[in-house]
Amino acid sequence: MDTNRLSPELEKALSDQMNKEIHASHTFLSYGIWADDKGYGGIANFLYRHAQEERNHSIKFMEYVLNRGGKPKVDAIPAPPNDPNSLTECFDSVFRHEVDNTTSIYRIVDLSLEQKDWATWNFMQWFVKEQIEEETLAQNLIDKLKIAGGDRASGESLFSLDKTLESAPDDVKMAQDATGDNP
Ligand SMILES: [Fe+2]
Ligand SMILES: [Fe+2]
Repeated sequence: MDTNRLSPELEKALSDQMNKEIHASHTFLSYGIWADDKGYGGIANFLYRHAQEERNHSIKFMEYVLNRGGKPKVDAIPAPPNDPNSLTECFDSVFRHEVDNTTSIYRIVDLSLEQKDWATWNFMQWFVKEQIEEETLAQNLIDKLKIAGGDRASGESLFSLDKTLESAPDDVKMAQDATGDNP
């Protein structure tokens, strides 16, 4: 008896997303190595932690497909992009990657809505929320670097940016949780 509760299209889309999250993980790992090599240990640490988060996302997709009776397929992962030329380029690229990933998440939400696969739709809402956080996190990186002076930042302000990111939390506050007392 076929116990697969996923349509072939959704099974493939979710499996592809599992691979895409690993690609994101490799990309941030590679950027982390770049930053480490340049002496930005705090930024590297932030990117390594982010790489691990992306791997966790991949595992969630794997587990979901298996739980629903499907079988995800690990594909060849494309090489990460070339090293950035500057911190600005690095953070801009992190942001672009997150936006790309959000588009890909939305596509699966669309498909689950179309197919009235409410289980998948519900599962995907976790990722919709997660992407708000990840995009905010990437926007914060860009903002912090801009305040530090961008590519013309002094050694001193880069030193303190690097220190800040070493201990920056992985989660950001969501607008949904804000109140007048606690904006
Ligand atoms: Fe992710
Ligand atoms: Fe992400």
